[in-house]
Amino acid sequence: MTTGPMTTGPMTTAPDDHGVTRREETVPMPLRFPEGFLFGAASAAYQIEGAVDEDGRGPSIWDTFSHTPGKVHHGDTGDIACDHYHRLPADLDVIAGLGLGSYRFSLAWPRILPAGAGAVNQKGLDFYKRVVDGLHERGVTPMATVYHWDLPQPLQDAGGWTNRDTAARLADYTQVVVDALGDSVPLWVTVNEPFCSGMVGHLQGRHAPGCTNLAAALAASHHVLLGHGYAAEIIHRGAPGAQAGITLNLSDIAPATEASDDRAATARLDGYENRWFLDPVLAGGYPADMLDWYGARTPIDFILDGDLRVISGAIDFLGVNYYETKTVAADPAEPVHQAREIPASGAVTAGGLDVRPAGLGRILRRVHGYSPALPIYITESGAAFHDYVDPEGNVNDPERAAYLRDHFTETSAAIAAGVDVRGYYVWSLLDNFEWADGYSRRFGLVYVDYRTQARIPKTSARWYRQLIRDCRDLAPAPPASGAG
Ligand code: FCB
Repeated sequence: MTTGPMTTGPMTTAPDDHGVTRREETVPMPLRFPEGFLFGAASAAYQIEGAVDEDGRGPSIWDTFSHTPGKVHHGDTGDIACDHYHRLPADLDVIAGLGLGSYRFSLAWPRILPAGAGAVNQKGLDFYKRVVDGLHERGVTPMATVYHWDLPQPLQDAGGWTNRDTAARLADYTQVVVDALGDSVPLWVTVNEPFCSGMVGHLQGRHAPGCTNLAAALAASHHVLLGHGYAAEIIHRGAPGAQAGITLNLSDIAPATEASDDRAATARLDGYENRWFLDPVLAGGYPADMLDWYGARTPIDFILDGDLRVISGAIDFLGVNYYETKTVAADPAEPVHQAREIPASGAVTAGGLDVRPAGLGRILRRVHGYSPALPIYITESGAAFHDYVDPEGNVNDPERAAYLRDHFTETSAAIAAGVDVRGYYVWSLLDNFEWADGYSRRFGLVYVDYRTQARIPKTSARWYRQLIRDCRDLAPAPPASGAG
């Protein structure tokens, strides 16, 4: 165990060294993290890279969606984003400057296989080789996500995730990236948040490709999970020294009242957002109550023999993304789930989400309850606030520093209670293109001035660097090695 000092633990209402004030008074306690715990930050290709038609990159569903009027806030697109593709060395220095132990990024499928399948674009692969080599040169462990939502448009034209073949195409693409990077990337996330690809993209319609159809959403979700299973097998075979996992976004969900209809509505939303993904991956089957609920509304004909064996195949860790706590009431007027979320009260982020660190602790313990031996990485956690550059040129975000401190505190407590959490990746390294919200939501530790592309580390970045330093200083020195 490494133990951080009291200053990085929960604070009283007095501001700390960095001017961070907590919302509520708690007893100061140190943060504890195991040896080798990875303090990281995360990003995703389409959200930061820009350079959408350079060096042979093909179009993805997010290029199409963001260029469709009315789909993204203000008509923003990822065409330029943080211009990371052209600023890689400087951004790697930003990562090193924060003292991160690990960096999670995603590989852009349309950069590597511009048509989605077939010809490999070597220039696309070369970019990610530079990312990985640059991280190693700076002593930072790479965690690569194979699929973070940027499906090549030609595959969408053939049906996208509603087409079972897309899972096989993900497998082929995974083989290409494992052949190229398998030796140098120790941590792999197969797919990011299948709930969002499946349900937000095909039922809610808020994300690409923008469908609003239950049958499509269920089939798409299943095929993303199937693709995950194939990809995990390929990573295990092609990179035997590496670890493979899937990242699920999990919400902490509770009923508005103890009334039986509110409790039933809560179980349905939990089934929709959490169990529809946790159960197949960790327990080898879809939840029976949700199969009944959905089966009464649309044929469930996309699950073929053997699929659940593939989907529940071995993973080395579960990636958990945590952003939301939800309070739910029954509402027969609501389509599909007949459940309504009660708007957040109390402290909220710029996106209107509750600030509820305790929900992270509950989620971690819940996953541990499913699979006590399975390591967990928090592959994303963070918040958007209304950040701006002040007259002195600083970006002061005490809310984010407090948010992170409280969520790291929950993580530390879960570890103390026996949950095997191996790392925490703050979302996000940089402010970036926040999908349907465009550039209106700033999640970064580092502020991006989109006009000049200047990077300005925020107060929270300094807080995080100090936490990492404190924990590192207190860690015992690694054993002297006689080997070269
Ligand atoms: C998650 C996504 C990530 C980012 C955060 C805020 O759902 O995985 O790309 O948009 O939300």
